[in-house]
Amino acid sequence: MEVKVFGVIGAGQMGNGIAQVAAASGLNVIMNDIQQPFVDKGLKTIAGILGRSVEKGKMTAADKDALLGRIRTSVKLDDLAAADFVVEAATEKQDIKFQLFRDLDRICKPGVILATNTSSIPIGRIAAQTQRSDKVIGMHFMNPVPVMKLVEVIPGIATSEETFKTTWALSEKFGKTPAKANDYPGFIANRILLPMINEAVYCLYHGVGCREDIDTVMKLGMNHPMGPLALADLIGLDTCLAIMETLYDGFKDSKYRPCPLLRKYVEAGWLGRKTGRGFYEYK
Ligand code: CAA
Repeated sequence: MEVKVFGVIGAGQMGNGIAQVAAASGLNVIMNDIQQPFVDKGLKTIAGILGRSVEKGKMTAADKDALLGRIRTSVKLDDLAAADFVVEAATEKQDIKFQLFRDLDRICKPGVILATNTSSIPIGRIAAQTQRSDKVIGMHFMNPVPVMKLVEVIPGIATSEETFKTTWALSEKFGKTPAKANDYPGFIANRILLPMINEAVYCLYHGVGCREDIDTVMKLGMNHPMGPLALADLIGLDTCLAIMETLYDGFKDSKYRPCPLLRKYVEAGWLGRKTGRGFYEYK
């Protein structure tokens, strides 16, 4: 099926970024979330980023308006009946994703691929919620989506070759470089990244260093663009904890146990940039 209308579930930091890159590639986009203020905020974020691109002379105001004109917001899941391809970027909670995939399976046209941007929930488990497990796949974007070049493409055990090829080609159409990861907890990106972040939190917990020194070591000593604690704040500490739990549950290996300090921050509602406080404070 030729993809002309691209559906995105979730207008948060991942969802609005995905909607932006899809619209930038010329597709018509339906950006869906459960409440109007959420989609309004997502669209405002996109408009703000594009506005800065216009100011920097990287884009014309007409192109910006045309791109925004290709994004339709929606608060009814039934609107996804018009989509040719859907990527789900809702909250990283298994029950929410399961329900969404059951609903999307009912609402979407039969040939439509249902992709998930899950950062660690097994694709096969999500696919099993539908009657189209051959058309369910992981399409894992990195944050911030408009900037990061990678899309991890994760076929589940039942995903067809055609679904894989379509998703791979779509990632390239978005200007991204896809990499294939098989369906094991954390895939490739988070299997490697999150234990590093968790270890940085352990360094803070054990008093090996303060937050600034831990981040400075990794920035200047390893040339990482940002330190692991600042990156955890960008990703969201709740998401970091959820990924560590998935790794720990999936492998039953103590090396993936989440640091108690990470859990403590999440329990306090200190989730990183999105709540104004994580390992650092934000205005
Ligand atoms: N949205 C869109 N564009 C953004 C942006 C955002 N949120 N943040 C920064 N940018 C753009 C800026 O506008 C700027 O664009 P120009 O070059 O056109 O001017 C460019 O990115 C560089 O930004 P800055 O100069 O402000 O800052 P920087 O050079 O420090 O880069 C960064 C910021 C891109 C976030 C960089 O620090 C970085 O790459 N950090 C690491 C990010 C990372 O590791 N992401 C993966 C997280 S893991 C994940 O997402 C998977 C998961 O499942 C958890």
